[in-house]
Amino acid sequence: MLNIALPKGRLGDKVYDMLASIGYDCPGYYEQNRKLVFESPEKNVRYLLVKPSDVAIYVEHRAADIGIVGKDILLENQSNVYELLDLKIGKCRMAVAAPDGYVEDPDRTLRVATKYVNIAKDFYSGRNRDIEIIKLNGSIELAPILGLSDVIVDIVETGNTLRENHLSVLEEFKDISARFIANETSFKFENEIISNMLSKLGEQVK
Ligand code: PRP
Ligand code: MG
Repeated sequence: MLNIALPKGRLGDKVYDMLASIGYDCPGYYEQNRKLVFESPEKNVRYLLVKPSDVAIYVEHRAADIGIVGKDILLENQSNVYELLDLKIGKCRMAVAAPDGYVEDPDRTLRVATKYVNIAKDFYSGRNRDIEIIKLNGSIELAPILGLSDVIVDIVETGNTLRENHLSVLEEFKDISARFIANETSFKFENEIISNMLSKLGEQVK
């Protein structure tokens, strides 16, 4: 049985639909309940619904054979997994944003709020900019509004969250999308089914 880690939520449902349409459907997936595991012995697959930021951990530790995860999380955690296909869904950009009209003071340490500590450090080290990171776990846009930080580093999709909180993008620096990943062992020993998925998914990717 191939264990597939799906990010719980909208992206996971979209990926499930793609996999179901190429023959890896699973009874009961859309029955709304609190179940986290769905399996189809006939199709030889088992879906695990995990927190999006944990997908690569399951795959890396071989609790799952494959998974679908945002490139943002792969970059942040430097996960040791094979990145096999860009599904070109869940597209967004990694960006620096600040309150509308913000002007940076280059002589002061820049306070950066983010859940992407490593990505932010990496970005500013390339700029030789002194920063202080404030690690948050969500609602990052609140930080500069309350003076907790000067700027934020976060993903932007539609831009609605920024707009509705009177922030603007200063710079977009990385395109993000969902990636199909596997661990080395599963890729070797479950190669037939994984390769079949990859080639069929590849045909759907625009
Ligand atoms: C994400 C992200 C942005 C927003 C971007 O937050 O952190 O806040 O979505 O999307 P938009 O440009 O379409 O508005 P999410 O809703 O996942 O919540 P969280 O940050 O509180 O985890
Ligand atoms: Mg957010």
